[in-house]
Amino acid sequence: MDKKRVLIVYYTYTHQTKVQLRHFIAGLEGAGIEVVQERLTPIVPYEFPFKTFIRLATAMVVTSFQKRMTIAPVAARCIDFWDCIVLAGPTWSYNPSGPMLDFLDRYGRDVCGGKRVVPFISCRAYWRLHFWTMKRRLNQYGSVVENPIVFNHPVKEPWRSLGLLLKLLGKIAQRRFSWFRQHYPRYGHNEAQRIEAREQGKKLAERLLREPFRSKP
Ligand SMILES: Cc1cc2nc3c(=O)[nH]c(=O)nc-3n(C[C@H](O)[C@H](O)[C@H](O)COP(=O)(O)O)c2cc1C
Repeated sequence: MDKKRVLIVYYTYTHQTKVQLRHFIAGLEGAGIEVVQERLTPIVPYEFPFKTFIRLATAMVVTSFQKRMTIAPVAARCIDFWDCIVLAGPTWSYNPSGPMLDFLDRYGRDVCGGKRVVPFISCRAYWRLHFWTMKRRLNQYGSVVENPIVFNHPVKEPWRSLGLLLKLLGKIAQRRFSWFRQHYPRYGHNEAQRIEAREQGKKLAERLLREPFRSKP
Protein backbone atom coordinates (compact mmCIF):
# COMPACT_ATOMS: atom_id res chain seq x y z
CA MET A 1 0.00 0.00 0.00
CA ASP A 2 1.17 3.58 -0.77
CA LYS A 3 2.55 5.52 2.15
CA LYS A 4 0.16 8.33 3.19
CA ARG A 5 1.68 11.79 2.77
CA VAL A 6 0.96 14.90 4.81
CA LEU A 7 2.18 18.41 4.05
CA ILE A 8 2.52 20.74 7.03
CA VAL A 9 2.66 24.43 6.15
CA TYR A 10 3.40 26.47 9.25
CA TYR A 11 4.38 29.81 10.63
CA THR A 12 5.64 30.36 14.16
CA TYR A 13 6.72 33.57 15.83
CA THR A 14 7.47 32.61 19.46
CA HIS A 15 7.96 28.88 18.65
CA GLN A 16 4.84 27.58 20.37
CA THR A 17 3.38 26.22 17.12
CA LYS A 18 6.75 24.71 16.25
CA VAL A 19 7.04 22.84 19.55
CA GLN A 20 3.46 21.54 19.36
CA LEU A 21 4.08 20.46 15.77
CA ARG A 22 7.21 18.55 16.73
CA HIS A 23 5.10 16.27 18.93
CA PHE A 24 2.22 16.12 16.46
CA ILE A 25 4.63 15.02 13.73
CA ALA A 26 6.10 12.36 16.03
CA GLY A 27 2.55 10.98 16.36
CA LEU A 28 2.07 10.98 12.58
CA GLU A 29 5.44 9.51 11.73
CA GLY A 30 5.16 6.92 14.49
CA ALA A 31 2.08 5.60 12.67
CA GLY A 32 3.95 5.38 9.36
CA ILE A 33 2.86 8.66 7.73
CA GLU A 34 5.35 10.56 5.56
CA VAL A 35 5.50 14.23 6.60
CA VAL A 36 6.88 17.15 4.59
CA GLN A 37 7.21 20.52 6.33
CA GLU A 38 7.17 23.98 4.80
CA ARG A 39 7.90 26.92 7.07
CA LEU A 40 6.56 30.29 6.03
CA THR A 41 9.23 32.97 6.22
CA PRO A 42 8.22 36.64 6.27
CA ILE A 43 10.51 38.83 4.21
CA VAL A 44 10.35 41.56 6.87
CA PRO A 45 9.40 39.80 10.14
CA TYR A 46 8.36 41.49 13.36
CA GLU A 47 11.24 42.09 15.73
CA PHE A 48 11.23 39.88 18.80
CA PRO A 49 10.76 41.07 21.42
CA PHE A 50 9.00 44.28 20.45
CA LYS A 51 11.25 47.16 21.47
CA THR A 52 8.46 49.44 22.67
CA PHE A 53 4.86 49.14 23.76
CA ILE A 54 3.85 51.45 20.89
CA ARG A 55 5.32 49.05 18.33
CA LEU A 56 3.50 46.11 19.92
CA ALA A 57 0.22 48.06 20.06
CA THR A 58 0.64 49.01 16.39
CA ALA A 59 1.15 45.34 15.49
CA MET A 60 -1.98 44.40 17.44
CA VAL A 61 -4.01 47.05 15.60
CA VAL A 62 -2.80 46.28 12.08
CA THR A 63 -3.16 42.52 12.55
CA SER A 64 -6.74 43.01 13.70
CA PHE A 65 -7.35 44.38 10.19
CA GLN A 66 -5.77 41.21 8.73
CA LYS A 67 -2.64 42.96 7.50
CA ARG A 68 -0.71 40.58 5.29
CA MET A 69 2.98 39.94 5.94
CA THR A 70 4.71 39.08 2.69
CA ILE A 71 6.43 35.68 2.75
CA ALA A 72 9.33 34.32 0.72
CA PRO A 73 8.18 32.02 -2.10
CA VAL A 74 7.11 28.58 -0.91
CA ALA A 75 8.83 25.51 -2.35
CA ALA A 76 7.41 24.15 -5.61
CA ARG A 77 7.19 20.67 -4.04
CA CYS A 78 4.18 21.93 -2.00
CA ILE A 79 2.03 21.73 -5.13
CA ASP A 80 1.63 17.97 -5.22
CA PHE A 81 -0.62 15.06 -4.24
CA TRP A 82 -1.24 15.07 -0.48
CA ASP A 83 -3.51 12.90 1.61
CA CYS A 84 -3.88 15.85 3.97
CA ILE A 85 -2.50 19.36 4.44
CA VAL A 86 -2.07 20.84 7.91
CA LEU A 87 -2.01 24.66 8.06
CA ALA A 88 -0.45 25.60 11.37
CA GLY A 89 0.26 28.85 13.15
CA PRO A 90 -0.68 31.36 15.83
CA THR A 91 -3.76 33.55 16.16
CA TRP A 92 -2.96 37.23 15.77
CA SER A 93 -5.65 39.66 16.93
CA TYR A 94 -8.35 36.99 16.44
CA ASN A 95 -7.16 36.29 12.89
CA PRO A 96 -4.69 33.99 11.19
CA SER A 97 -1.18 35.48 11.31
CA GLY A 98 -0.02 37.88 8.59
CA PRO A 99 2.28 35.30 6.94
CA MET A 100 -0.53 32.67 6.86
CA LEU A 101 -2.91 35.21 5.29
CA ASP A 102 -0.33 35.98 2.61
CA PHE A 103 0.11 32.24 2.00
CA LEU A 104 -3.66 31.78 1.61
CA ASP A 105 -3.86 34.73 -0.81
CA ARG A 106 -0.99 33.74 -3.06
CA TYR A 107 -0.63 29.97 -2.72
CA GLY A 108 -3.82 28.75 -1.06
CA ARG A 109 -5.60 27.73 -4.24
CA ASP A 110 -2.60 25.99 -5.84
CA VAL A 111 -1.45 24.16 -2.71
CA CYS A 112 -4.75 23.45 -0.89
CA GLY A 113 -7.35 23.51 -3.67
CA GLY A 114 -9.52 20.37 -3.57
CA LYS A 115 -7.52 18.87 -0.69
CA ARG A 116 -8.32 17.77 2.84
CA VAL A 117 -7.05 20.53 5.17
CA VAL A 118 -6.68 20.50 8.95
CA PRO A 119 -6.10 23.88 10.63
CA PHE A 120 -3.71 23.66 13.60
CA ILE A 121 -3.87 26.66 15.92
CA SER A 122 -1.72 27.88 18.79
CA CYS A 123 -3.24 30.80 20.70
CA ARG A 124 -3.72 32.41 24.05
CA ALA A 125 -7.48 31.83 24.02
CA TYR A 126 -9.39 33.12 21.01
CA TRP A 127 -9.24 31.00 17.88
CA ARG A 128 -12.78 30.83 16.41
CA LEU A 129 -12.56 33.81 14.05
CA HIS A 130 -9.12 32.57 12.98
CA PHE A 131 -10.65 29.18 12.09
CA TRP A 132 -13.70 30.64 10.34
CA THR A 133 -11.52 32.99 8.27
CA MET A 134 -9.37 30.09 7.09
CA LYS A 135 -12.35 27.86 6.49
CA ARG A 136 -14.20 30.46 4.43
CA ARG A 137 -11.17 31.09 2.28
CA LEU A 138 -10.31 27.39 1.83
CA ASN A 139 -13.91 26.56 0.93
CA GLN A 140 -13.56 28.99 -1.97
CA TYR A 141 -10.67 26.85 -3.18
CA GLY A 142 -12.73 23.66 -2.94
CA SER A 143 -10.78 22.34 0.05
CA VAL A 144 -12.43 20.01 2.55
CA VAL A 145 -11.75 21.72 5.88
CA GLU A 146 -11.79 19.48 8.93
CA ASN A 147 -12.21 20.43 12.60
CA PRO A 148 -9.24 22.42 13.84
CA ILE A 149 -6.66 21.18 16.30
CA VAL A 150 -6.37 23.97 18.88
CA PHE A 151 -3.99 24.63 21.76
CA ASN A 152 -4.74 27.47 24.19
CA HIS A 153 -2.33 28.82 26.78
CA PRO A 154 -3.32 26.83 29.87
CA VAL A 155 -3.19 29.60 32.50
CA LYS A 156 -6.02 31.58 34.13
CA GLU A 157 -6.75 35.21 33.31
CA PRO A 158 -5.58 37.88 33.93
CA TRP A 159 -2.17 36.16 34.16
CA ARG A 160 -2.47 34.64 30.70
CA SER A 161 -2.89 38.00 28.95
CA LEU A 162 -0.40 39.76 31.19
CA GLY A 163 2.15 36.99 30.58
CA LEU A 164 1.72 37.22 26.81
CA LEU A 165 2.18 40.98 26.92
CA LEU A 166 5.34 40.69 29.03
CA LYS A 167 6.70 37.93 26.77
CA LEU A 168 6.14 40.00 23.63
CA LEU A 169 7.91 42.94 25.29
CA GLY A 170 10.79 40.72 26.44
CA LYS A 171 10.00 41.41 30.09
CA ILE A 172 8.89 38.04 31.41
CA ALA A 173 9.88 37.64 35.07
CA GLN A 174 13.24 35.92 35.25
CA ARG A 175 13.52 34.88 38.88
CA ARG A 176 12.19 31.38 39.35
CA PHE A 177 10.21 32.01 42.49
CA SER A 178 9.02 35.53 41.78
CA TRP A 179 5.51 36.53 42.79
CA PHE A 180 4.45 36.61 39.15
CA ARG A 181 5.78 33.14 38.45
CA GLN A 182 3.48 31.68 41.08
CA HIS A 183 0.54 32.69 38.88
CA TYR A 184 2.24 32.30 35.54
CA PRO A 185 4.69 29.38 35.57
CA ARG A 186 5.60 29.71 31.90
CA TYR A 187 4.65 31.30 28.62
CA GLY A 188 2.79 29.11 26.15
CA HIS A 189 1.86 25.46 26.13
CA ASN A 190 2.69 22.84 28.73
CA GLU A 191 3.82 19.22 28.87
CA ALA A 192 0.26 17.82 28.91
CA GLN A 193 -0.43 19.69 25.67
CA ARG A 194 2.68 18.25 24.07
CA ILE A 195 1.38 14.78 24.89
CA GLU A 196 -2.00 15.82 23.53
CA ALA A 197 -0.32 16.99 20.29
CA ARG A 198 1.31 13.60 19.85
CA GLU A 199 -2.06 11.91 20.41
CA GLN A 200 -3.67 14.19 17.82
CA GLY A 201 -0.95 13.21 15.35
CA LYS A 202 -1.66 9.55 15.99
CA LYS A 203 -5.42 10.08 15.61
CA LEU A 204 -5.01 11.91 12.31
CA ALA A 205 -2.74 9.13 11.05
CA GLU A 206 -5.34 6.50 11.95
CA ARG A 207 -8.03 8.51 10.16
CA LEU A 208 -5.91 8.88 7.03
CA LEU A 209 -5.27 5.16 6.96
CA ARG A 210 -8.96 4.41 7.53
CA GLU A 211 -10.52 7.06 5.24
CA PRO A 212 -8.24 7.70 2.27
CA PHE A 213 -8.68 11.08 0.56
CA ARG A 214 -6.58 12.11 -2.36
CA SER A 215 -7.61 14.55 -5.04
CA LYS A 216 -5.62 15.95 -7.94
CA PRO A 217 -3.77 19.28 -7.62
C1 LIG B 1 0.62 40.36 17.37
C2 LIG B 1 0.00 39.24 18.19
C3 LIG B 1 -1.38 39.20 18.37
C4 LIG B 1 -1.97 38.16 19.10
N1 LIG B 1 -3.33 38.10 19.21
C5 LIG B 1 -3.94 37.05 19.81
C6 LIG B 1 -5.37 36.93 19.85
O1 LIG B 1 -6.11 37.75 19.31
N2 LIG B 1 -5.92 35.85 20.47
C7 LIG B 1 -5.14 34.89 21.05
O2 LIG B 1 -5.71 33.94 21.61
N3 LIG B 1 -3.77 34.97 21.04
C8 LIG B 1 -3.17 36.02 20.43
N4 LIG B 1 -1.79 36.11 20.39
C9 LIG B 1 -0.98 35.09 21.08
C10 LIG B 1 -0.48 33.97 20.18
O3 LIG B 1 -1.51 33.44 19.37
C11 LIG B 1 0.10 32.87 21.05
O4 LIG B 1 1.09 33.40 21.87
C12 LIG B 1 0.65 31.68 20.27
O5 LIG B 1 0.85 30.60 21.16
C13 LIG B 1 1.95 32.03 19.58
O6 LIG B 1 2.32 30.98 18.70
P1 LIG B 1 3.76 31.00 17.98
O7 LIG B 1 4.75 30.96 19.09
O8 LIG B 1 3.80 29.77 17.14
O9 LIG B 1 3.89 32.25 17.20
C14 LIG B 1 -1.17 37.15 19.69
C15 LIG B 1 0.23 37.21 19.51
C16 LIG B 1 0.79 38.23 18.77
C17 LIG B 1 2.30 38.24 18.57
